[in-house]
Amino acid sequence: MSLYRNTIWFLKGMREYTKSGYETAAKQFVAEDLEVDVKGRSYMITGANSGIGKTAALAIARKGGTIHLVCRNKERAEEAQSEIKANSGNENILVHLLDMSDPKQIWEFVEKFKTEHKLNVLINNAGCMVNKRELTEDGLEKNFATNTLGTYILTTALLPALEKEEDPRVITVSSGGMLVQKLNVSDLQLETGTFDGTMAYAQNKRQQVILTEQWSKSNPNIHFSVMHPGWADTPAVRSSMPDFYEKMKNRLRTEEQGADTVVWLGISSSAKKHPSGLFFQDRKPVSTHLPFALTHSSHGDEEKLMESLKELSKKFAPSSGNL
Ligand SMILES: NC(=O)c1ccc[n+]([C@@H]2O[C@H](COP(=O)([O-])OP(=O)(O)OC[C@H]3O[C@@H](n4cnc5c(N)ncnc54)[C@H](OP(=O)(O)O)[C@@H]3O)[C@@H](O)[C@H]2O)c1
Repeated sequence: MSLYRNTIWFLKGMREYTKSGYETAAKQFVAEDLEVDVKGRSYMITGANSGIGKTAALAIARKGGTIHLVCRNKERAEEAQSEIKANSGNENILVHLLDMSDPKQIWEFVEKFKTEHKLNVLINNAGCMVNKRELTEDGLEKNFATNTLGTYILTTALLPALEKEEDPRVITVSSGGMLVQKLNVSDLQLETGTFDGTMAYAQNKRQQVILTEQWSKSNPNIHFSVMHPGWADTPAVRSSMPDFYEKMKNRLRTEEQGADTVVWLGISSSAKKHPSGLFFQDRKPVSTHLPFALTHSSHGDEEKLMESLKELSKKFAPSSGNL
């Protein structure tokens, strides 16, 4: 990654991704956008037991939506469920246990979910930054398995269920950090070279942006968007980026500020007025590249990413899997 790109990105972040950046952007928000009733609509949120996911779940629960909390830890999930029920007065909060780094489990989860529930909106929020190169039981690099392959499989498997419903949407929580990365399809699981968790994460978040663009082209009946929350004070930032957290803790956004665009994309009619497939920051579509940055990928590489994920996901799919 170039020093230029890194510096420009950090300066941009200081201006736009911080709490003060949010406060400036929020002056343009239309309050009525969130004054909606989503009773009868069903929302699935991954990684909903903490941070941005839990905050978005609570906000949507307050608007009357049925919420499916998809989490990997029973205790943490049930704690979040009780808290969301108590703070929203909404009893339609369901817990589903799923490890997003386990592709076979994801396919099986969706097969069952589809027979029991309907789904209007999928919010791909679960994410991780694992700083050492660690493998899952399936031999997959953990960041890639959770952030990219897990998101790909969950979304792909749920597309038929979403297609059946009114106003279906898919929102993916990426990161502004993806701006420093150009798509690299030659080594998706970073098997060669020195491993850098921050860069692995940023590469996965770039992949999520490309997935969203590609899904929007092949699924015109579903509205796809990808967004970044800015820099928000959440458990992930504190544990995965302790140095960054120490330096930035007084400037970080609250979890509510980080979750604002997720909620807006999930419930407002204004969000739907934008074309499908865009990248959002503070309720506005923004460029997926920094000025003059050489991060644009070729059409061939984007197709290669989709092909590689399709091939990899097939290995774990039940024979009835929707591919
Ligand atoms: N906070 C920021 O400044 C910031 C900036 C850019 C992007 N993001 C993105 O925002 C999203 C939410 O993160 P956050 O900041 O709100 O952090 P967080 O509070 O730590 O939330 C992350 C969530 O993802 C879940 N998760 C991680 N790996 C999982 C797995 N294998 N299976 C199922 N769930 C898993 C975590 O579950 P456990 O509790 O079990 O670990 C947790 O619920 C992530 O995608 C992150 O990349 C955040």
